[in-house]
Amino acid sequence: CKNKDFYLATLKAYPSGCVVTEGYRPLAEGIANFDVREDDIWVVTYPKCGTTWTQEMVWLIANNCDFEGARKVLLNERFPFIEFGMITADTGIEGDTFATAKNMQPPRFIKSHLPKGLLPKELWTKKPKIVYVSRDPKDVALSFYHHYKLMNGYKGSVEDYLEAFMNDALVYSPFWGHILDFWKLRHEPNVLFNTYEEMKQDLPSVIRRTARFLGRSLTEEQVAALTDHLSFAKMRENYSVNKEEGMTILRQMNGLPDSHRFIRQGSSGGWRKEMTEAMALRFDKWTEEATTGTGYKVGVSG
Ligand code: A3P
Repeated sequence: CKNKDFYLATLKAYPSGCVVTEGYRPLAEGIANFDVREDDIWVVTYPKCGTTWTQEMVWLIANNCDFEGARKVLLNERFPFIEFGMITADTGIEGDTFATAKNMQPPRFIKSHLPKGLLPKELWTKKPKIVYVSRDPKDVALSFYHHYKLMNGYKGSVEDYLEAFMNDALVYSPFWGHILDFWKLRHEPNVLFNTYEEMKQDLPSVIRRTARFLGRSLTEEQVAALTDHLSFAKMRENYSVNKEEGMTILRQMNGLPDSHRFIRQGSSGGWRKEMTEAMALRFDKWTEEATTGTGYKVGVSG
């Protein structure tokens, strides 16, 4: 694929054990020493766990369901992705999201996929609210595969991709280190641990739980309106969150049809359509080995 050499040449396991790209290097110090504010609100996830969905939910809860305001400004601007430069270093995509995050008027909303060990040190002393979301790795891996086809022109096989996922060879790996570090923090008063599966199953309950965590109260009418706004069908057509602003060019570059979208299929268990039984069993074994003794169960926030 177009960026394969870049990725092969730059993916390295750093001492903290996270696979990053060369684009991380110039950002590393600034992120580690980032001035965190107590009134920041962070959404931290491993990629493809439902980050965008959670960001829109969190932003709207914190802004008293200002749907009009949310529609007017792209989510990427309302809720900057602090280390986006790490992903875009080689792509020609411009913009300094680090500066956007740093210079935002409080309360700031910040997204990161970095694992605990690479996040700003002050997150653990200033203790702003952090919403984390996890997802079944079988769905994450397949979602990431489609994402790589779109963003990085990946042309390899799905099997190779899934193999790389389980071998912790992809950017932001290892998956389990990321998830379990936050699982251990789930009882901290400033951390909320949600799951994609619970959002799919009962979004109103997750909205209420998240609102309580953020210290906001919503009426039942607002919960219903927000549930509707966050539905897969509505989010897919919502230009403010569906990332279509950059997709036409990426689809053209990578020879993909218009139907290949960032907000793709949005299901729990969608892996059944694309993963062989043998591969699914390997994922389950891998999951069991990683989670035994931790109390973590896929899909359950605890
Ligand atoms: P799929 O690729 O399985 O469809 P992230 O934002 O962390 O990159 O996660 C993207 C995944 O969340 C994609 O999963 C996307 O379709 C899904 N998603 C986004 N909005 C959603 C919504 N409103 N309901 C369900 N899934 C959603």
